[in-house]
Amino acid sequence: DLQEFLVTRNAFLPESSPLERLPDSYYEPWEAIARELPKHIKQDTIRKVVADLPVLSTDRLQSVEEWRRAYVILAFMTHAHIWGGDKPAEIIPPQISIPFLKVSSHLELPPVLSYAAANLWNFSCSGQDFTDLESLKTLVSFTGSKSEDWFLLISVAMEASGAGLIDTMLEALNAIKTRDYEVIIDALGELSRRIEEVGVLLERMYEHCDPMVFYHGIRPFLAGSKNMAESGLPRGVFFDEGDGQGEWRQLRGGSNGQSSLIQFFDVVLGVDHKGDGGVPPPPGEQTFHQQVRDYMPGPHARFLVHVERLGSIRELALAANTGQRQQQERLRAAYSAAIDALTGFRNRHIRIVTRYIILPSRQRWDGGSRQNLASASSSLGKETGQLTGTGGTALLPFLKHSRDETANAVRLGR
Ligand code: HEM
Ligand code: ALA
Repeated sequence: DLQEFLVTRNAFLPESSPLERLPDSYYEPWEAIARELPKHIKQDTIRKVVADLPVLSTDRLQSVEEWRRAYVILAFMTHAHIWGGDKPAEIIPPQISIPFLKVSSHLELPPVLSYAAANLWNFSCSGQDFTDLESLKTLVSFTGSKSEDWFLLISVAMEASGAGLIDTMLEALNAIKTRDYEVIIDALGELSRRIEEVGVLLERMYEHCDPMVFYHGIRPFLAGSKNMAESGLPRGVFFDEGDGQGEWRQLRGGSNGQSSLIQFFDVVLGVDHKGDGGVPPPPGEQTFHQQVRDYMPGPHARFLVHVERLGSIRELALAANTGQRQQQERLRAAYSAAIDALTGFRNRHIRIVTRYIILPSRQRWDGGSRQNLASASSSLGKETGQLTGTGGTALLPFLKHSRDETANAVRLGR
């Protein structure tokens, strides 16, 4: 029963379209800012309208859909407030902090623009099929641009496209004990095909998301407050809860690396991400892949732990001698094909990063009237010129290492 993990027929996406608006008019001040976010950013009024907000209580939020809608709005508002001025704002005022901390802890998420805020709960669909990009619409956006909609919605379609794999792979994991090779081999075949499909969707990014608009206009708003010293947040951000209360926090920014679906692929294939691009995390810190679990809705992160405990297809596929030689060779071939598919997916993603980050970072942009936006500098470390991912990694070394760890899963000793 996957309900306790909030896994639906759309996997990590909700069962039906997220709420487009909080029903209680008490929350109209939030909704009004959400509707006009692109205008407030462009006209430099965002910090003023946030300052003018009343501190609203979360007591009137009822259904889980309402809590999620509140989380989405507050997350976008927070990032617009931080990055929508000449310099980044280090202080999150009580108007945002107080409700955002409540809503985040209710949903077991950090108070930041996570993948759940930007993607999983930030769309509406005019039909039932969430893989159909034509029927998807973004709810809250920093720029209101087609490029941003497309960037956010591609992930929704990808998540939906992989959804059917949950049941298939859970059955395969169950079949390990009974040594039901055929079930596992078929499931791996299905997995390979679906990963391919998800990769094809990823490459549809090029259709409507312009790399220059993405890099200079959108991406800066996704940035978090961790590893952001060079962008003006050496201490992270301060969540001011009023009356002298509050806390400094450093949080990773939005990254599709927080997708539970992609980690699900890793888990069922036994891909282990030990190092962060050959740069191991500082002592006492976890790797990126471990850390981002804390940026997934709690039940989804627990689902991945649950799946990890169901057994290892990898061990069976790579076992030296199981006494069923022929079947085992076919299993190994199917496993190895699935690993190739996931490695191929990561290669596609690396090409995206080159097109959308590396190349535009070397080009001047005069598409925005407000060149002095703090956010414009967050894309590039000013002093070292080192590029950082919005999720706080060193980009290519990290992503290549992650890909190599995938490819190496077919080797016994790794
Ligand atoms: C990680 C960039 C779209 C899946 C990352 C990272 C970057 C990046 C820089 C490293 C983490 C960080 O520091 O932020 C991009 C760009 C995209 C894009 C520029 C589009 C313009 C997507 C999409 C997905 C995705 C649509 C699909 C869900 C991942 C995953 C990781 C990751 C799973 C974690 C690394 C791994 O497991 O190999 N991305 N990404 N990305 N991204 Fe993307
Ligand atoms: N994580 C992606 C980036 O760094 C969105 O741009």
